[in-house]
Amino acid sequence: MDLFEYQARDIFAKHGVPVLGGAVIESAEEARAIAEEWGGRAVVKAQVKVGGRGKAGGVKLASDPDDAVAKAGQILGMDIKGHTVHKVMLAQTADIKDEYYVSFLLDRTNRTFLAMASVEGGVEIEVVAVENPEALAKIAVDANEGVTDAKAREIVEAAKFPADVADQIVEVLKSLWKVFIAEDALLVEVNPLVKTGDGKIVALDGKVSLDENADFRQPEHEALVDHAAANPLEAAAKAKNLNYVKLDGEVGIIGNGAGLVMSTLDVVAYAGEKHGNVKPANFLDIGGGASAEVMANGLGIILGDPDVKSVFVNVFGGITACDEVANGIVQALELLAASGEAVTKPLVVRLDGNNAELGRKILSDANHPLVQRVDTMDEAADKAAELAAK
Ligand SMILES: Nc1ncnc2c1ncn2[C@@H]1O[C@H](COP(=O)(O)OP(=O)(O)OP(=O)(O)O)[C@@H](O)[C@H]1O
Ligand SMILES: [Mg+2]
Repeated sequence: MDLFEYQARDIFAKHGVPVLGGAVIESAEEARAIAEEWGGRAVVKAQVKVGGRGKAGGVKLASDPDDAVAKAGQILGMDIKGHTVHKVMLAQTADIKDEYYVSFLLDRTNRTFLAMASVEGGVEIEVVAVENPEALAKIAVDANEGVTDAKAREIVEAAKFPADVADQIVEVLKSLWKVFIAEDALLVEVNPLVKTGDGKIVALDGKVSLDENADFRQPEHEALVDHAAANPLEAAAKAKNLNYVKLDGEVGIIGNGAGLVMSTLDVVAYAGEKHGNVKPANFLDIGGGASAEVMANGLGIILGDPDVKSVFVNVFGGITACDEVANGIVQALELLAASGEAVTKPLVVRLDGNNAELGRKILSDANHPLVQRVDTMDEAADKAAELAAK
């Protein structure tokens, strides 16, 4: 889960990363009192979870309280790369002498953590990485050792931070590492980390991405969720512990196992080309033990999606055998009918693997008018696409 800048700023402050005063507001007029308290000047910053806000006009310097209200009014409601600005953060102004970059992230390729640092901050770091790669230091961080004094010094030296700020940056790196570990983050980034006119180091912009797999031990993170932005179907699926991602096509997909579901998306997209370009409407992996309840929950979510015109249930029986899955489907249809969510869209079911014969027989015997059995994945994908195109 990506955080807003103001949430990242709060978390930085909690762990000792130096930040300036900030306040988040949702109506322009609120900017006046805050700017007055700070002596008039303030930076007005759009709170959207997308980069390049400054270039898009979402970061503006206000010279007095009236100006702060005016600039907040311009930025609130603005559309930045498809994200509407509902909140702005007012930040105290910094007298910037230099802009740097520091971050910690999970480096999946090398199976370790990685520190990145550069004295060329402020600008987009992706550009530095491409045009001037030697200006971006990359230092692996051992998960067991973490960022010790020695490791922080190594990062400072590799990035060639000036001697007058080296000690302060060592401290910032250690605090930032605390954020990374204590909050179970996948990314913590400060861009820019600035040196001010009086030689102080402060974080002016922060990006934090939290690892949702650690939510069970981070109860406080629930309060950081932006419920307003969540897709209602994804939110409903999450509440039922389903692995669901909404896509923009018409064929609802249910499968067991992430790999099978991924390839199901591919075959449906391919088959859909012959049927007016229909596409998968979602990713849904019901996992290993596809009980009737899980199947009913999954079908409930998918059938509740108005974009869905047909559903393809693609199951390869393994530890959970096909007869259990078939019973799950039959019971799920009964559960849905009983709850008033009767199935009105055609279902194409393909069962293969462990106990496939028995599973197919159970479906045939149930003889549900909207359920069709197709025995190969390609043919089933074609049938589901054809039904969606009707
Ligand atoms: N509090 C501040 N005081 C003075 N200048 C600021 C302040 N905050 C930001 N700036 C200036 O504005 C620039 C852009 O700000 P910021 O990094 O927050 O947004 P951005 O980089 O455009 O957004 P994103 O990080 O989403 O791409 C900074 O590099 C800095 O020069
Ligand atoms: Mg930035």
